[in-house]
Amino acid sequence: MSQILKFYLNGNPVQVAAGDADTLLDVLREGLGFTSPKCGCNHGDCGACTVILNGYSVKSCTVLALTAEGKNVCTVDGLADGDKLHPVQRAFHEYGAPQCGYCTPGMVMAAVSFLNRNPSPTEDEVKEALSGNLCRCGGYKKYVQAVMATARGEFGPLPEGSVGNV
Ligand code: FES
Ligand code: FES
Repeated sequence: MSQILKFYLNGNPVQVAAGDADTLLDVLREGLGFTSPKCGCNHGDCGACTVILNGYSVKSCTVLALTAEGKNVCTVDGLADGDKLHPVQRAFHEYGAPQCGYCTPGMVMAAVSFLNRNPSPTEDEVKEALSGNLCRCGGYKKYVQAVMATARGEFGPLPEGSVGNV
């Protein structure tokens, strides 16, 4: 049986039918048409479905949709400020990190959530933070370099406040 789930998506109130077994990834992609979170494995292993839920990155295929009631969900679609990309998005682009791009939205959200809490990380901390996000193109080195460059401020200051927070 489904019920109406209400939450905030990229700052906007949304409502969507959700069943007990539906995941947050299901309602984002199929219910609301937000296809930036990818379904790589659907088992919590690859990180392609990563979004930010109340300020923390989560693998949306492992989150029951109904637990998002009243919460803030942010996908990569909600990061840019008008036509101004988030510094992490700019860094990934400038460093040529994405290849096929399938893992990129999840990588972005994991990186943004991490930098919100640790804006001056070591390289090892960045590697650890991205370790739950698999890139089958093997682009890890550039993703890590891009996050370090973001932390150095190469692409401007991180936006005030925590993305997708309450
Ligand atoms: S699709 Fe969610 S972790 Fe792979
Ligand atoms: S860029 Fe292709 S999977 Fe990461």
